[in-house]
Amino acid sequence: MRIMLLGAPGVGKGTQAKKIQEKFPIPQISTGEILRAAVKNQTELGKQAKVIMEKGELVPDDLIVGLVRERLQEEDCKKGFILDGFPRTIPQAEALDVLLQELNMKLNAVIDIDVDYEKIIARLTNRRLCPSCGADYNLLNNPPNPDNTCKKCGETVIQRDDDKEGTIRNRLEVYEKQTRPLKDFYAEKGMLKVVNGDQGVDDVFGKIVKILGD
Ligand code: AP5
Ligand code: MG
Repeated sequence: MRIMLLGAPGVGKGTQAKKIQEKFPIPQISTGEILRAAVKNQTELGKQAKVIMEKGELVPDDLIVGLVRERLQEEDCKKGFILDGFPRTIPQAEALDVLLQELNMKLNAVIDIDVDYEKIIARLTNRRLCPSCGADYNLLNNPPNPDNTCKKCGETVIQRDDDKEGTIRNRLEVYEKQTRPLKDFYAEKGMLKVVNGDQGVDDVFGKIVKILGD
């Protein structure tokens, strides 16, 4: 099963990818998570990406396509994968088409998760993460301990560097200009399915599972 999750920052791509990954054991490929790991490890890629990500802009297409090209050829992708946050521009989508052809693979589903921008801003300004075990919290509906520590490992939770309101607004502008056109790109291929992301996590997941079943 090869799945692509589209949608603006904060619609729940990562949350749903993790649930899909549990139900159907296929890896989540989040370009954002790969880049954040590179920033943390201060690799060459991480040094280039850090400044761009902190502004909420997009990392250059050739770097991202190179990353995905390598990742898709790893052994665990043979049984399928979930693309989360890639592609994000038309050139990335075109490069993915070429890459999938080379690897003799086809996507089974392109799922766009849709949420209003004001709700996204509320979600992202309230997101907290555990820097140690990676647990995801949200002050709105899934808070950490009252002293802001992780319920799983006790570490103090933090905010993602790009989850400041100004940066979130820029990420949404970048999405509007560069990523939203992908909806038409995949709709024209007859591949796009849209799910309302403004419902509980399990309800969104139920809709996704139904699409995958069909
Ligand atoms: P990336 O990491 O991909 O971030 P993003 O697209 O901005 O999206 P998020 O991860 O913030 O949100 P999400 O949709 O995964 O939602 P989540 O499940 O976390 O990219 C970061 C940066 O890396 C980019 O800005 C760019 O610089 C660079 N980058 C990455 N990929 C790139 C590419 N292909 N090309 C170029 N540059 C690239 O949920 C958000 C919050 O909402 C959480 O707190 C969650 O608990 C909560 N939540 C989730 N679902 C629900 C629900 N149903 N109801 C209520 N709350 C919910
Ligand atoms: Mg994410």
